[in-house]
Formats: sequence, structure tokens, C-alpha cells
Amino acid sequence: MTAGETSPVLEIRDLTKSFGPVSVLKGVTFSLGPGVILGLAGENGAGKSTLAKCISSQYRPDSGTIRVNGSCFTVPQEFTLIPTLRVYENIFLGRELSRYGFLKKKAMILRAQALLNKVGCTVPPRKMVSDLNVAEKQKIEIAKAFLDRSKLLILDEPTTVLNRMETETLFQILREFREQGGSVIYISHKLEEVRTICDRIVVLRDGVLVADEASGDLSAEEIARRMVGRNLTRIFPPKRPADPGTDEVLRCENVSSGREVLDVSFSLKKGEILGLAGLAGAGRTELAETICGFRRRSGGRIVLNGTAITRPTPDRMLRAGLSYLPEDRQRTAILPDFTLADNLTLSSLSRYTSWGFIREKRCREAAARYMERFRIRAASPDERLGNLSGGNQQKTVIARGLDSSPSVFIFDEPTRGVDVGARGEIYEFIHALAESGVSCLFISSDLEEIIGCCARVLVMREGRIRGELSGDDVNEERIMFLATGVK
Ligand SMILES: Nc1ncnc2c1ncn2[C@@H]1O[C@H](COP(=O)(O)OP(=O)(O)OP(=O)(O)O)[C@@H](O)[C@H]1O
Ligand SMILES: [Mg+2]
Repeated sequence: MTAGETSPVLEIRDLTKSFGPVSVLKGVTFSLGPGVILGLAGENGAGKSTLAKCISSQYRPDSGTIRVNGSCFTVPQEFTLIPTLRVYENIFLGRELSRYGFLKKKAMILRAQALLNKVGCTVPPRKMVSDLNVAEKQKIEIAKAFLDRSKLLILDEPTTVLNRMETETLFQILREFREQGGSVIYISHKLEEVRTICDRIVVLRDGVLVADEASGDLSAEEIARRMVGRNLTRIFPPKRPADPGTDEVLRCENVSSGREVLDVSFSLKKGEILGLAGLAGAGRTELAETICGFRRRSGGRIVLNGTAITRPTPDRMLRAGLSYLPEDRQRTAILPDFTLADNLTLSSLSRYTSWGFIREKRCREAAARYMERFRIRAASPDERLGNLSGGNQQKTVIARGLDSSPSVFIFDEPTRGVDVGARGEIYEFIHALAESGVSCLFISSDLEEIIGCCARVLVMREGRIRGELSGDDVNEERIMFLATGVK
């Protein structure tokens, strides 16, 4: 072996990092050779993103050393694209091509097009980023990584928003990158995926490196066990079959919105968990947004608790008893610069106000209760929300949806970015909600969880509901058939 082959791309020795009194990374040591895809697993708040940010010099470690051989690019967990700029402008942001002080716009557009092709993205380079969905934004982030021929690529939960085919495309790209000697750190909660794509797996628990092994030597169960330090059994509470006799709480009649939602009719019963399956782009999120009043309805009727809602606005729907957990929580659901307590109580502020003053103490007490119930990991209710780990932000948004005591709760990808243990807690929690009489519409791209949680499932494709399944028909084969239209 020559020296070039053995010299590592990344060497980390005894790395520690704290935020104030909270110590997040505790003596992490490992190294990474060229042409290796390394999986990084760990519970929400274990320190994965913090480690990624230390490697890419966004954070300064308190002690220890990091040596990166060559350049490194990180695709972060939360998107950093600027919505008011075009796709190509985002890709070249801070690295614009110019000559004699003039921007070489045409050259940038052509380069951007080539990069987009490389990551299998069909969005035109001139499109505004604000018009993209989350899966498309993710691809733009990855395209950026390929611009400066990095030797080390860090992907922080890249596939949470990608469907199966898009994930396969990404894996193909990563394998090509590895062929050319590039190395990847791949952070994900999808443990089967980690085993598929990674050569080696490192597990963090509470900031301590507790496993570093070849991926063939670790089963998904074993990874999960190392992550939480105990055995986990998976994990779906018994299904709640819809009782045909029970009351209808929400009804859609021939609801349409633009070309995304077409002639959708269904009804949701009291205390039911109704699944809504389909591939990315099938119109599920758009349907949810139409029901919740975020998107204009172009036809049809929506009846909530016996009353037809003529002009839904998000505010009106919330007051009528509808809570919504949006898919793109970064854009629509959180105020990162406000405290955890503020974020938890902001949709039902009236309950925390008297004589026009916000009762701070009452807010903080309520926040503390939710933190305990959902095991939201944060130093205190006064912690800035943006400082929480991605999964803990997600739990916060769910807890807030509850704070307004809804009769219908629409969940759009509720376990996105949530670790295996907490995922079980969220399922249990949704079941408990249904048990207490709340009707849940459960949108998910994760077939396993749709099948595990829902006794009745609607499947969408190209804006329309293509079928309804119940009982034993709720299985992978039937859902995929309706979702894709091919056997
Ligand atoms: N800028 C910051 N200020 C204060 N605390 C922080 C900051 N960044 C992270 N933390 C804390 O560090 C801990 C680890 O967070 P990190 O984001 O690294 O977790 P993670 O493993 O990526 O989790 P997830 O799977 O939820 O994304 C968390 O408890 C978080 O609250
Ligand atoms: Mg993270």
C-alpha cells in the first residue's frame, strides 16, 4: 500500500464540545480513510449534528483535534437555501462566477443544469427556491456539495424527505462518489438504510462514541440497542379499527385545489386514525394544506363537526378544532429565535393571557409538563428553540398542536427525523389521542408505519384518491399498487 492510500481523510481525537453547562460531545475519537461511507447513528440530541458542525468548522471544539485532509462539504439537517433567490443563484451563492466584475449568468445556469442532472433533479435552474417542495430543496443542497469537488461529504439526514426512488438515486450518486475516492459521513435515523449504504457504522450515545464497526457486523436491532443502551421492541400499539357506527367528524366532498388536489372525497370518524399514503408529489401535503386553509380551494365542500366551512383560514380552522403538524416545519411551524415555552403555547395564547397580559409563569409550567410528557430534551423551557436538536424540535411542534385541544389532528410526516425510541412514543401518543376521541389523519411515506398504525388507508396518486384499503388489504403490495398504478 502506498502512503496516499493509507492517509486518512478525517482524523478526530478526543473531541469535546459543550454549550454552557451542557456537555454534548465527550471525548470522541475516530478516523476515516478514503473511499468509505460511514454511517453515524444516535438518539435525538446525542450530538450527531454538533459533531458534523465541528468537522465543517461551524463550531469550535472545546478540546481535542480534528484534521480534515482536503475540503469538506456539509448538507445540513435544516435547509439553508434562500427562498427569494433562484435555484442557480443558491447553488453559486458566495461562489459566483464572474469575469471583469460581471456575473457570468449564462455559465452559472449551464453549470447548475449539469449539477442538477447529476443529482437527478428536473427543476429548471431559473426557478425560485420558494416554489420548490422539500424533496426538491434537498436535491439543490446536494447539488451544491458537488460544485466544489469535496473529498469529504457530510449528509445530515438526507433522505427524510426523499421517496424510495429518489433515495435510490442518491445512493447511486454516493456510490459513484466513493468510487472516485470520496468519503461520506451519513447521518440518519433510518437504520436499514444506514446498513444498506454504509461500509462502517459509528454510534453516539449522549455524546460518547459507543460503537465503531463494519456495517455487516451490526443488525438494525443491534444499532438501536447501542443507541439507547437497552433493548427495544418494535413498537406499534394495537390498531384501532374504525367503527362504522361512530360519528363523522370531518368530511371532504369533491375538494379540489389547482392541479394538485383533484376531486377528493372522504370522511373521518371520531377517534379514528386514517392513513393517507402515496409517493412524494402525489398531493397529500397539498390536500392537508387545503383542508387547513393554507391553500385556496378551487371546488368542493369541507364539513367539520357538522358545519360546512365556507372560507377556511388557518386561524379559523384552528379555532374550529383542527390542529396541523406541517411537513416542512422549518418554514411553517417554528420560531427558532423564540423560547421553547413560547413556541409551545403560541397557538393557544388566549389560554395564557389575562387582561391582555401573557401569563409567563403559566406558559412555562405548561411547557415543563409537555417537556416531561414527550421527553423533549432541552436545558429548560427558556432554551431558544433553534438550539434544540432536530428531533426535539419536531416533538415540540406536535406538543403544541395538542395545546389547543383539537377534535381533528392532521399529521404530515410526524416521525420525520425522529429516533427509533421517540418514534414509538409518537405512535403511542397518536393512539392515545385517538383513544380519547380525537380523529387523526396520518400522512406518511413510511409504509411500515402506515401499515402499523392505520386500520383504514387512503392512497393518493397525481392529486386523486385512487383507492381506500382496510383490514388485511392494508399491506405493502396493495398500497404500492395504488400509489404507482403498476403491479
Ligand atoms: N447552539 C446550541 N446552543 C445550545 N445547545 C445546543 C446548540 N446546538 C446543539 N445544542 C444541544 O446539543 C445537544 C445535541 O444536539 P444535536 O443537534 O447535535 O443532536 P442530534 O444528535 O443531531 O439530534 P437529532 O437526531 O434530533 O438531529 C442537544 O441537547 C441540543 O439541545
Ligand atoms: Mg441532528
